Amino acid sequence: MAEALKLWRNAQLYTCDGHSRIIARGALLTRGSRIEWVGDEAAVPGAAAHEVHDLSGAWVTPGLVDSHTHLVFAGTRATEYAERLRGRSYEEIALSGGGILTTVRAVRAASEEQLFDESAPRLASLLSEGVTTVEIKSGYGLTLADEAKMLRVARSLGRSFPVTVRTTLLAAHTLPPEYQGRADEYIDVVAREWLPELAGQGLVDAVDVFCERMAFSVAQAARLFEAARTLGLPVKMHAEQLSNLGGTLMAAAAGALSCDHLEYAGEAEAAALARAGTVAVLLPIAYYCLAPERRPPLDALRAHRVALAVASDCNPGSAPAASLLTAMSMATRLFGLTAEEALLGATRHAARALGLEYERGALAPGQAADFVAWNVRSIEELGYWIGFNPRRTVVRAAEVLRWPNPNA
Ligand code: NIG
Ligand code: FE
Repeated sequence: MAEALKLWRNAQLYTCDGHSRIIARGALLTRGSRIEWVGDEAAVPGAAAHEVHDLSGAWVTPGLVDSHTHLVFAGTRATEYAERLRGRSYEEIALSGGGILTTVRAVRAASEEQLFDESAPRLASLLSEGVTTVEIKSGYGLTLADEAKMLRVARSLGRSFPVTVRTTLLAAHTLPPEYQGRADEYIDVVAREWLPELAGQGLVDAVDVFCERMAFSVAQAARLFEAARTLGLPVKMHAEQLSNLGGTLMAAAAGALSCDHLEYAGEAEAAALARAGTVAVLLPIAYYCLAPERRPPLDALRAHRVALAVASDCNPGSAPAASLLTAMSMATRLFGLTAEEALLGATRHAARALGLEYERGALAPGQAADFVAWNVRSIEELGYWIGFNPRRTVVRAAEVLRWPNPNA
């Protein structure tokens, strides 16, 4: 049977494509799961659609893309959060065996089913806000079997929910206790054994590394990137989050898809990201929770025209939040992004941070038919509401999702 042709009419389109066009009386034609045509309703091309959907004049954007999450995990770190409120730092907690390692212990102890069940509500929360593509990292297993378990859960969430999941191997998140004092050996095992094995199982779409004093050095990250390159896998980096180690400069030179966090980056990093076309992924919820002394160098990033993405960073330590809309609002208030920048950061630029710019993140012919109709008077409301979800209708792969929103 021919693929269904559907007309989605009576919409105010914010396309987020190269020109971020606004089409006041817009319409979309979809064929199968892709967008075929976008434009003014008066100019819809001839062929008779099999179905016509009236979007009631709503603002319509591309489906949101959360380009940085650690949403598969077990347990919480609420106790450590309380310790931080009493003055202990994130680094201090990590160096005494807590932090990421607390979650590693919980993930190792959890069965695959348990991990799925604990993670599913966080994914559901993102989806309820119009997220149609989400990146999920490993990094709380830190053995081959437990990293594989996390990645399988991420894949299985993608099959169980109406969302596109991209998986990232973050075995280089922190040094597991078994390798204490042997970080170089650990990186070698990940690079030479785990990465090819997990990639061979189809579990890895990209490779990430936490480049930081308390985690891995620039040289270690470079070795991992080299192994990823050999396998044809894209790379990204948790870079300059708590200090400036020079990770961003190396990652950009290696053609990384993105460098994420960047609180301690400066002019040189912004220039390097721009030269390489690497996306700067801003994580304002982690900034809010950790309250570092510096914020990402927005003026330099803008001056060099670096593409800015905004992501939730959903994780139990630095960002206990499963809301991309909250991250977008925080990006405006804490980092000074405009609402339009925040929206591009959660659509086109986020897709680019995942290497998906030709498939997702814009309302344009050839893109996935993923879009959201919002109950808002203007696009500014998307970098504005906190704890209120103005999502009306989510369309994924040209199908309307049955996902009730009591606020709409
Ligand atoms: O993006 N920086 C390292 N990784 C996470 C935090 C993970 C955790 O604390 O569990 C981040 O902030
Ligand atoms: Fe992170």
